[in-house]
Amino acid sequence: MRIAVLAETEAAEPRVAATPETVKKFISLGAEVAVQAGAGRASNISDADYAAAGARIDAGAAQALADADIALRVRRPSATELAGAKQNLAVFAIMDPFGNAAALTELAHTGAIAFAMELMPRITRAQSMDVLSSQANLAGYRSVIDAAAEYGRSFPMMMTAAGTVPAAKVFIMGVGVAGLQAIATARRLGAIVTATDVRPATKEQVESLGAKFLAVENEEFQQAQTAGGYAKEMSPEYQKAQAELTASHIAKQDVVITTALIPGRPAPKLVSAEMVRSMRAGSVIVDLAAERGGNCALTRPGETIVEDGVKIVGALNLAGRMASTASSLYAKNLLAFIETMIAKETKQFSINWDDELVKATALTRDGAVIDPRFAQ
Ligand code: NAI
Repeated sequence: MRIAVLAETEAAEPRVAATPETVKKFISLGAEVAVQAGAGRASNISDADYAAAGARIDAGAAQALADADIALRVRRPSATELAGAKQNLAVFAIMDPFGNAAALTELAHTGAIAFAMELMPRITRAQSMDVLSSQANLAGYRSVIDAAAEYGRSFPMMMTAAGTVPAAKVFIMGVGVAGLQAIATARRLGAIVTATDVRPATKEQVESLGAKFLAVENEEFQQAQTAGGYAKEMSPEYQKAQAELTASHIAKQDVVITTALIPGRPAPKLVSAEMVRSMRAGSVIVDLAAERGGNCALTRPGETIVEDGVKIVGALNLAGRMASTASSLYAKNLLAFIETMIAKETKQFSINWDDELVKATALTRDGAVIDPRFAQ
């Protein structure tokens, strides 16, 4: 069983899919590991660190992939990058399958079996494999740190000889994994925190973290959570009522952090241009949904802009801004999943196609895209 750890090809991706710790563990499970030179550099892991853990270092992706049964990446590799790899190479990555049918078809044509880590079911058995949680948790933390850095005032209340400085008011919109961590982080920094979501289960979670919950709690709200635990897209009527409720609240906030997402859909627009202009100069909005179009109407993905004195941070890949930590958690998520496919006695890698985790995450097999949601 051979595992290739490939370097990322997008300049904006500093994370890496394996660490010396997971390399060691794979070797103890019977694998030979080849790491593409430089793969860990942006996460502060040198080739020597991987070599010390027992990995072979190969100059390029093609060498690392030669005879590999498994390839590990953070982002989906292109079909070209996998040229020359064995048929049935199992590729594990964040595949970003929504809206990328053509790229997935090309990947399928290489003969690879592609696993989309972000489609891992949110069930107890798979918690240690949940890349959305491990990365969103870090992004939620980082969003508050970035907001505090951009904000020209203090987060905690300070009573000084020169006078009292009030605590910052922080509003978190969308209370999934990232939002909950953002609440906890903002509270630790001493801010006064409020939060909103459309799923009723979040009310208690927000309150248990010491923040105040604010939402339109009508009948639609009671039904807003899908069986999978995600939010539904809300009706135009609900969105209107939600905007009316939040508009006056946002006008009084110093910091707004938005994290609202709906799987497979563009991010819901929760903060209008008018709401931005209602905030006082020096306020900050960090839009964690920027990658999916943004929760704020004025967000420019990847940029920080100032609108009427309000800074809007179109944050991309915030987990990547903490690459060392993000890589170590992501690598452990991969290890936890792949470990279930390695037989203890024979040390052979084999995919159990009846396993619900495999069924949920496998995108391609035998040259075709097998998940009908993403087929062309
Ligand atoms: P997400 O990243 O898909 O969305 C973030 C938040 O935005 C969600 O809380 C969602 O309800 C909210 N949202 C969507 N539309 C909104 C709107 N119009 N207005 C306000 N808020 C809106 O969510 P994430 O973080 O991936 O969590 C999804 C679910 O998975 C949650 O129920 C979470 O508790 C659950 N989960 C379960 C795990 C497990 O059991 N292993 C692990 C991690 C999460």
